[in-house]
Amino acid sequence: MMRQAGRYLPEYRAVRQKAGGFLDLCFSPELAAEVTLQPIRRFGFDAAILFSDILVIPHALGRKVSFVAGEGPKLDPIDDPETIANLPLEADQKILSPIYETVARAKSGLLPNVTLLGFCGAPWTVATYMIAGEGTPDQAPARVFAYGFPDAFAELIDRIADASISYLVQQLKAGADAVQIFDTWAGILPPEEFHRWSVLPTKKIVAGVRKDIPEAKIIGFPRGAGSILPVYTRETNVDAIGLDWMIDKKFARENVQSLKPVQGNLDPLALLAGGDALDRAVDDVMAAFSNGPFIFNLGHGILPETPIENVEQMIERVRGN
Ligand code: CP3
Repeated sequence: MMRQAGRYLPEYRAVRQKAGGFLDLCFSPELAAEVTLQPIRRFGFDAAILFSDILVIPHALGRKVSFVAGEGPKLDPIDDPETIANLPLEADQKILSPIYETVARAKSGLLPNVTLLGFCGAPWTVATYMIAGEGTPDQAPARVFAYGFPDAFAELIDRIADASISYLVQQLKAGADAVQIFDTWAGILPPEEFHRWSVLPTKKIVAGVRKDIPEAKIIGFPRGAGSILPVYTRETNVDAIGLDWMIDKKFARENVQSLKPVQGNLDPLALLAGGDALDRAVDDVMAAFSNGPFIFNLGHGILPETPIENVEQMIERVRGN
């Protein structure tokens, strides 16, 4: 599942409470590795995803980041080009090194046939939080900033991309089998802006990681890309595409899965609802994609209120399909 650890699991909530703050949990290798492995123990998934967050990169670039219960992430907002010019040229590796230890610990706790995924946020998505200082319904502050200060914004995107390259390389060296680039806010951009702020920076990260690790396996997830997903797929050179729940399945099969393996795309709300609607939604996803290279997955993160029984029902339905 996408975001398989997290608040829907009582065992996660227990560790989270013990760790104190959310970032404390991200930077405690023993606890973060434990949380990474919890869903594998409970459900026997084929892959685990590193427990961390995309916002550790702004934190390692010297921005203040906190997670307020019930309100999501909070950062110092950025409203002028000078703040970007003054960002450090490189992420603080002392801050990030516990995450590489988490990767190594998690890998050694998995059976050899279980894949470990590392990840980062795409520069556009990370930048939206850095500019606004929080999640907003349409991330308008970053879009306005990018129109008003395109050079400074390009510099911000570059700093995040550079930090992400070394961050992913080190996750792969520490034992991640593949990495995923989450571009959660890709879909709110007009096509030209999408190309500039999502496709090109992602392409840069892919090339930068492969310069160090030519065989690196990289999954892209540009949520909401819709009809421009084939362009993203072709131009970024990612190895596989995460499909959100909104994409037309026939379109994705014919124009994306024909190019690269896909993963997705169950609506997290179908998982939340359960019952016959969940069975039907699982069957639709399987029917659409299982004749090509395909990984069953959610189309976005699992919601905290999702009943665990629904996850069990989903797994049984997928495996029986
Ligand atoms: O299985 C996992 O949970 C994997 C680890 C993971 C987290 N965040 C942990 C987390 C991953 C892969 C992410 C990615 C992430 N983080 C994205 C991209 C993917 C997506 O879901 O769109 C984004 C945009 C973020 C930024 C972020 N972090 C937000 C918006 C929030 C608040 C979410 C909410 O629903 O309130 C977070 C916090 C966060 N990251 C939680 C978890 C488990 C919940 C924090 C908690 O325990 O209170």
